[in-house]
Amino acid sequence: MCGIVGYIGQQQAMPIILDGLKSLEYRGYDSAGICTMDKTRPDIRRSRGKLFNLSRLVEALPLRGRIGIGHTRWATHGKPSETNAHPHQAGPVVLVHNGIIENYLALKSKLSGLGHTFKSETDTEVIAHLIEQKMKSGTAFEQAVRDSLRELKGAYALSIVSETDPDTLIAAKSGSPLVVGVGGKEFFVASDIPAILPHTREMVFLEDGEMVVFKNGQAQFSTVAGVPLKKMPKHIDWSPLMAEKEGFRHFMLKEIFEQPRAVRDTLSGRILEEEGDVYLEDLRLSDAGLRGFTRICIVACGTSWHSALIGKFLLEEHCRIPVEVDIASEFRYRNPVIGPETLLIAISQSGETADTLAAVREARTRGARVVAICNVIESSIAREVDGVIYTHAGPEIGVASTKAFVTQIVALLLFTIRMGRATDSMSLIRSRELLADLLHLPGLMDQVLTLNEAVRDIALHFIHARDFLYLGRGINYPIALEGALKLKEISYIHAEGYPSGEMKHGPIALIDDQMPVVVIAPLDRLYGKVESNMQEVAARGGRVIALCTEGDRDISDKAEAVLEIPDCSEHIAPLLFSIPLQLLAYHMSVLKGNDVDQPRNLAKSVTVE
Ligand code: AGP
Repeated sequence: MCGIVGYIGQQQAMPIILDGLKSLEYRGYDSAGICTMDKTRPDIRRSRGKLFNLSRLVEALPLRGRIGIGHTRWATHGKPSETNAHPHQAGPVVLVHNGIIENYLALKSKLSGLGHTFKSETDTEVIAHLIEQKMKSGTAFEQAVRDSLRELKGAYALSIVSETDPDTLIAAKSGSPLVVGVGGKEFFVASDIPAILPHTREMVFLEDGEMVVFKNGQAQFSTVAGVPLKKMPKHIDWSPLMAEKEGFRHFMLKEIFEQPRAVRDTLSGRILEEEGDVYLEDLRLSDAGLRGFTRICIVACGTSWHSALIGKFLLEEHCRIPVEVDIASEFRYRNPVIGPETLLIAISQSGETADTLAAVREARTRGARVVAICNVIESSIAREVDGVIYTHAGPEIGVASTKAFVTQIVALLLFTIRMGRATDSMSLIRSRELLADLLHLPGLMDQVLTLNEAVRDIALHFIHARDFLYLGRGINYPIALEGALKLKEISYIHAEGYPSGEMKHGPIALIDDQMPVVVIAPLDRLYGKVESNMQEVAARGGRVIALCTEGDRDISDKAEAVLEIPDCSEHIAPLLFSIPLQLLAYHMSVLKGNDVDQPRNLAKSVTVE
């Protein structure tokens, strides 16, 4: 996610802002910039790449002024570049933004019609022009901001200055975090606490639809509509490291709890409910193009391969197109039979996995069209394919992938709808049902996250186990694989994922009272089969941990531990059932005293073969 810092007070703004941006580096970024109000004139420096580049720039060309705003950009619209870096300016208005404006294209077209020209590809620059346009019509700066915010759809955290009001700083929030630090006669604004902690521990957390105007040593809080608010500062006693994790003990736990927000951001601006379709801005494949494919291959590694397996179920079920899934390191060496009639989908959180990149190149040399599902804009894989579906999970710091995994499945569901509508294999009614399920998903995920303590108790109960078996059927078989991988990679306990129908073909020989068996048993069309597999395990003294649908009373007498998941559609179940498995692996790892975020032998991105 992007990082924002703002300052107004008696000190020089630039060093405060630069240090603040440095403390937000963990949020991930690809460019950065600062603007200070040097007496009455805004002065801007921006650079691509790391903050070191920006530091060198401001050393060579210092920025003066006691008011300023700064930004580290995690690209969502428009590639990483100086032109797309924030701050963005339109006339007297300069601002920085964190979030995604869903209606920016419509606003941009309206403003272009009024003579505005745009330098960048970003949604953010449109906001600056919108405010400028209102000021051109005679509206004062503060009111122009209020009127503009009411026209925005989507998420924003903003810090704004204007040449017309050189002693004023405005900040506003809706959907993206923004915190205000209250100093003596000075104020700080930031996306996150770490940027403010070195200066003050008195903080005000803005709520959605609120803004603050800093002027003459005062902070006037109000709603965007203008209703004054009395906001009392809270005392924050976190250490800086705790603050980076927003109070969570590990990045992995923070990212597990970020999943509802990551899903919302990945859906943002893409759902066309009326048309029963989706808008995938970087897919670059027309309906006719999509209709030209007779089969799909999906390649990936690790957790991304598990989401690829789910993609097979979705696309074959809803689009009736044959889908083959391959581990990338296997695909590239097996002389695959693919050509122009094949669409290859490469799934990679980092966009840098060497085996997946090599598979992409192999497919392109054989004439296949390639689409990537990536979490990092302009990553190596994203740059070498014909189209991209970006997940907007934000940077994933923990080596064990969680929020990227669920947003990959969301991206696959979005593509399934797009493919189904383009090839007329999905009815309008069906696509609207799937879209409704996606819109309800973040709320259901919030409910599942309340199981955290119950999962921790289960981890404590089974902490001495040396082997685990994970069982699932159908679309939940990949979730069994994913649960096992999560446990392996951070708790170092051996675990295997298996299709539960395979039990009698070998794994059942493993079952005894030392072997916990995690069974994924949603109330779906395969429930009866899964339940009998559970009986087989229980009958042999196996210790069952059952994940079932809320209200399922038949399961509790066959399981030693039960976790109830809200009822949901079959294609949503993998997203909900994976959360307790992420939490189980997390708590087992913590209880074993492992380095959860940096487990032994593993790297976040495997850029070598
Ligand atoms: C998942 O928890 C692991 N960190 C690993 O399996 C990962 O999914 C795999 O290396 C693929 O990475 P990518 O998605 O960045 O290509």
